[in-house]
Amino acid sequence: MRVSNFNGGPGALPVEVLEEAARDMLDWNGTGMSIMENTHRSKKVMAMAKEAEADFRDLLGLDEDEWAVVFCQGGASLQFAMIALNFAGPGGRCDYVNTGLWSTKAYKEAQICGAKPRLAASSEEDDFTYIPDAFDFDHEAKYIYITTNNTVRGTQWKKFPHNAPAPLVADMSSELLSRPIDTEPFGLIYGGAQKNVGPAGVTVVAMRRSFADKARLDVPSMMSYPIYIKNDSMYNTPPVWGIYMCGLTFKWLKNTVGGLSNMAAINKAKAEALYRAIDNSDGFYRGTARQCSRSTMNVTYRLPSEELEKRFKKEASQNGLEGLGGHRSVGGIRASLYNAVTQEDVNKLIEFMVEFQHKNG
Ligand SMILES: Cc1ncc(COP(=O)(O)O)c(C=O)c1O
Repeated sequence: MRVSNFNGGPGALPVEVLEEAARDMLDWNGTGMSIMENTHRSKKVMAMAKEAEADFRDLLGLDEDEWAVVFCQGGASLQFAMIALNFAGPGGRCDYVNTGLWSTKAYKEAQICGAKPRLAASSEEDDFTYIPDAFDFDHEAKYIYITTNNTVRGTQWKKFPHNAPAPLVADMSSELLSRPIDTEPFGLIYGGAQKNVGPAGVTVVAMRRSFADKARLDVPSMMSYPIYIKNDSMYNTPPVWGIYMCGLTFKWLKNTVGGLSNMAAINKAKAEALYRAIDNSDGFYRGTARQCSRSTMNVTYRLPSEELEKRFKKEASQNGLEGLGGHRSVGGIRASLYNAVTQEDVNKLIEFMVEFQHKNG
């Protein structure tokens, strides 16, 4: 029996996608072998990767002449270094907005790469409970780095600065393809697949070709965006299985869900229902993010004591509600409502929460 999966990542994938992958497992596309056993240089595999790329572009409205899309490995964490190496380099100035653990890590990684990152804004003074809306941008910065959804703290950018002096570079790992994005201010967006679009092991990166043209060339091959672009992500053996799974999810989003506007409406309804349950609990459940910055993807909250939180997670699990533990750095409860988590899953969680409060409140 499948459970309701609220894991922060790897997270839930659509059942239809998993079923299709299971059907293809022994004989993919008439090749008599699984996709994992095919050579990546075969016409069929290359066509599959091209189609995944095209569907991703289609979903986000990225024009092929303007945007390159590549599939990398090394998780979202490798992008922290790749971005700094490609677009800042030794001594290169770059701005960061610090909204939590992942942007802090990206900032530190830029320092390790020899770049000169600087904070344009931060919400650290209030324990990362909100997304800043005032920025002190460096006019010499090569890019401005943001994390659009903060998986650990449950905050999400609602609008993006349009007056920044450099292109925005965005870690969208925990919200990729959960809503349409106005890509105008962005030079590069990326996401580790394992939250919303596929399995761990592949990271989808889209960048403006005009921005990619500015990438430094003295970067190791496996970390060089121009090399990924020139080789259609196949400079070396790419994460074929990951790309294939992402491709199936992209098709699901296009054909079953009907695109990102529909997906966003579904996600908004799920999140609103859960936040309503939290806000209507007379303080038994307490949301940790400020209302104006609440994430539709990761709903973070606390109970009156750690003891109760422990019991909550245990009993939730006994009721088929899994993955509700907050990130190990902050504790508490986190319900991740990624695309594949259904309204029914959320309703079950809310019912459980009401009953748990009734028994323990
Ligand atoms: C927003 C964000 N960025 C980066 C990461 C790191 O991802 P990875 O484990 O793929 O390096 C995570 C992981 O949870 C994340 O949520």
